[in-house]
Amino acid sequence: MPWQSRRLVVVVVAMCTVMAVQYGDAGSIPDACPVYLTISAMARNIEEAQLVINWGPGCENPPAWIGLYTENPALSDAPPIVKVLVEGEASGQVLSEVRFGRHKLPGGWSHEQVLQRIPKRKTKPICFGYYLTSYDQHDQLQYFDCLKIQPNWMFTDPGLSNVTLKDLFLPGTHCSGCYQTRANVGNVFLKKIGFRQSIDLWSQLVYGVRYLDFSIGYQPSHNGTRNFWIMNEHFRVAPLLPILQDIRRFVILSEETVFLDFRRFPLGFHNNPDQHAILLALLEQELGDLVYRRKMDAGDESQAPAQPTESYNLTIGEMRREGKYLLITYNHEASLNESSLIWKPWRKHSSAFLKHTELGEFMQNLFSQKHPDAPKDVGWSLHGIQGLQGSYNDAEGSYMMPNERASMVNPKLIHLLGGPWSLRANAVLLDYFLNTNLIDMAIYTNRYKTLRASASSEAAVVLDVQ
Ligand SMILES: *[C@@H]1O[C@H](CO)[C@@H](O)[C@H](O)[C@H]1NC(C)=O
Ligand SMILES: *[C@@H]1O[C@H](CO)[C@@H](O)[C@H](O)[C@H]1NC(C)=O
Ligand SMILES: *[C@@H]1O[C@H](CO)[C@@H](O)[C@H](O)[C@H]1NC(C)=O
Ligand SMILES: *[C@@H]1O[C@H](CO)[C@@H](O)[C@H](O)[C@H]1NC(C)=O
Repeated sequence: MPWQSRRLVVVVVAMCTVMAVQYGDAGSIPDACPVYLTISAMARNIEEAQLVINWGPGCENPPAWIGLYTENPALSDAPPIVKVLVEGEASGQVLSEVRFGRHKLPGGWSHEQVLQRIPKRKTKPICFGYYLTSYDQHDQLQYFDCLKIQPNWMFTDPGLSNVTLKDLFLPGTHCSGCYQTRANVGNVFLKKIGFRQSIDLWSQLVYGVRYLDFSIGYQPSHNGTRNFWIMNEHFRVAPLLPILQDIRRFVILSEETVFLDFRRFPLGFHNNPDQHAILLALLEQELGDLVYRRKMDAGDESQAPAQPTESYNLTIGEMRREGKYLLITYNHEASLNESSLIWKPWRKHSSAFLKHTELGEFMQNLFSQKHPDAPKDVGWSLHGIQGLQGSYNDAEGSYMMPNERASMVNPKLIHLLGGPWSLRANAVLLDYFLNTNLIDMAIYTNRYKTLRASASSEAAVVLDVQ
């Protein structure tokens, strides 16, 4: 039975590959230390933000040096624009002097370009013109990565379609609509404390974010088109409608699955519950044909069985087979009775009220599964953020700004998440996610899970035969 043993070999090879690529592609040496680029949150805007060179965590064989290039070193002999000598450190982060600058999203994915031509779906990530390569002491290449977008990561991994939503690692943004636009740029107050992301929602999706978090306010305007607002706490940040239109455009072009979490309604809903029906009508109008709905029983109300409102046991395959690419969770119970468009919210855990020194224990309780808080077999989101209160510094009598808080909390959180806990993560939402490798971590964790799942079913086939 030679074909069976060949099959077993294939399985084993697949397992080894996934171990090597867990946190980075193209690791040409099995134990190569991952290197990756991130973008600092500490800048007034993305153009001025400095690139950060990262390696690790915890590398047994750190590289001798790492080069940052503006031309692909596989195709060009141009020297690095930055060279970092690692000097045996097992992990590290070096803030380079290189600023991100002005760039279109590559691969034809900029907002303007997609209006003219549908971008090709590529299976590989698409690089901006920043490449990172690490070398050993003999100048042999160890590891390669680039600053990149991954607009099709779900589509190109067919194994994902059978994984239940609660078992996927979904990279997300907290306060997804809270960023600077042409319309709100003059608002000094927002500028100081209102923004939570350095890039717009379209770009977030193109980078690979798939879980979006919204607080919505209602404030009537003179002509009725801009009544619903993206809120950050009780501040109006931007109108909702253009954001819904971007989400629509993105899922149509990419066929990726995107999760919309309508979590809070801090303005104009409390004394006016009818606003929910109006908001749901807007969601219906803008996105209705793309949303995976609950199957509601149209029959006699009193006889109807309890309607399933939990979504976390669905798969993206089930959604795609019906041509649906959006799932909406909505945190208002009465509305669930009114509309099939929305599902019950997933469980939420937030680090917003903690000091950053308390993050370790909080994560331990969530992920070690011994604690009563640890989510088991449910859909859940981790808001890995720090609120204003948690950032108060007694000694200096001051609070940190949102980007300072994200610069403090994100690397810690990602470091904690980076080990075996990543396999238990579900939706992970960050402020200023570009200062982390959240997207890569989610993609590799999901790939690891699907390969492991298919490997174990293959192995079972082989055992059956024996
Ligand atoms: C998903 O599961 C179905 C039935 O269980 C199977 O037929 C299909 O091949 C699976 N798809 C993938 C991509 O694994
Ligand atoms: C409504 O007002 C906004 C500006 O407040 C404007 O951009 C938009 O075109 C107006 N819409 C209509 C239908 O008049
Ligand atoms: C989801 O699936 C799990 C395991 O298959 C099951 O135990 C659980 O009851 C399901 N939950 C819901 C709400 O359907
Ligand atoms: C929703 O409907 C269920 C059953 O029809 C009912 O028991 C429940 O009270 C309703 N919830 C709200 C908030 O109206």
